[in-house]
Amino acid sequence: PAAKPNKGGLEGIVAATTAISKVDGTAGRLVYRGYDIHDLARTCSFEEVAHLLWFGHLPNQKELSELHERFTAERSLPENVLQTIRELPSTTEPMDVLRTAVSTWGAVSISGKPTIEQAIAVTARFPLILAAFNRLRNGKEILESRSELGHAANYLYLLTGEVPKDEHVQGLNSYLVLLADHGMNASTFTARIVASTESDIVSSLVAALGALKGPLHGGAPSKVQDMLRTIGTVENAEPWLREAITHGGRLMGFGHRVYKTADPRAEELREMARVADPDDFKLSRHVEETALALLDELKPGRRLYTNVEYYSAALMKAVGLSGDLFTPTFAVSRCAGWTAHILEQVSNNRLIRPEAEYTGPLNETFVPLADRS
Ligand code: CMC
Repeated sequence: PAAKPNKGGLEGIVAATTAISKVDGTAGRLVYRGYDIHDLARTCSFEEVAHLLWFGHLPNQKELSELHERFTAERSLPENVLQTIRELPSTTEPMDVLRTAVSTWGAVSISGKPTIEQAIAVTARFPLILAAFNRLRNGKEILESRSELGHAANYLYLLTGEVPKDEHVQGLNSYLVLLADHGMNASTFTARIVASTESDIVSSLVAALGALKGPLHGGAPSKVQDMLRTIGTVENAEPWLREAITHGGRLMGFGHRVYKTADPRAEELREMARVADPDDFKLSRHVEETALALLDELKPGRRLYTNVEYYSAALMKAVGLSGDLFTPTFAVSRCAGWTAHILEQVSNNRLIRPEAEYTGPLNETFVPLADRS
């Protein structure tokens, strides 16, 4: 496709080839290695999807059991990582804790060219880091993982100390499946850039975590929750949203660079959020419908829809996660996609090094420091 440099933000520019996932923004379709996201979301475990992203095919029962064993073998944190988590103030944002702890882990455990073993090891540890910090900041003991539990269930168990309800496990598992990969999004591109310099896997992931954190990318869901809390009632929705849009405000959970129609992940999450907490859903749905009508009226032609973050907030709240765990839980899922992309990048690497169109002056006359006014 032709580049559109005037719009900035690399819109429409193809930055890599990939066989991992395809986002069709016109049809509203997301595919992981040929499989439609709707087919994967309700029926597959996160581990099945991670296997699909890493190895290129859905696992049979034996392969899935092997992956589960490899995950469980990696479910512990070295003492230096635990020490880092203990030393961070309890007010630290969990996303910052995750980034720092992953970096600490990498400092002692990782070097060399990225491998699938490292991808599994780091993906297994993301939930452990978050749960350990969450327990400590609530004055509770860090728990040991339970080998019989899958990735989603073990994460919830480590957070709460209770074997989670089936509906919570299913809700979180579907969320993890839906968010695991998404084409050349900002954090995945970041991970690939770092990998392309022949750096290590943890450096790529730390950079990706930094990119994911921003509110225009993965930082949106807690802000969706803040917005819904501020709106508070169905009656307040129309005046609040009209005021926000009229004054140039960005509605969190709306709009997408690629989707110019409904985001298929948002469709899945909407239905799950409706089932998970019908009362909460009423306000979310009303705000969504009102906002879409107002965006159509006040920003005609922009083709703005609800994105994946909008109902992520409602679903994660329903499964018991606090607002500041929403974005790092996105990272728990996306770690599978990031690592698949890092491995794909290094398997056929060429340094990613674009150019910039220089817009500054070219022929200034140099003046020594002492002579400058
Ligand atoms: N609320 C109000 N107006 C919006 C919104 C929004 N959420 N999103 C885009 N617009 C308007 C924007 O003001 C602009 O209007 P105008 O032509 O008058 O200047 C027009 O639509 C195009 O916006 P843009 O910024 O050029 O579009 P983009 O492709 O760069 O932005 C986006 C994509 C996701 C950054 C943006 O839609 C946004 O800021 N959304 C809110 C934050 C959010 O929900 N982020 C999560 C993204 S999805 C998950 C993920 O990627 O991690």
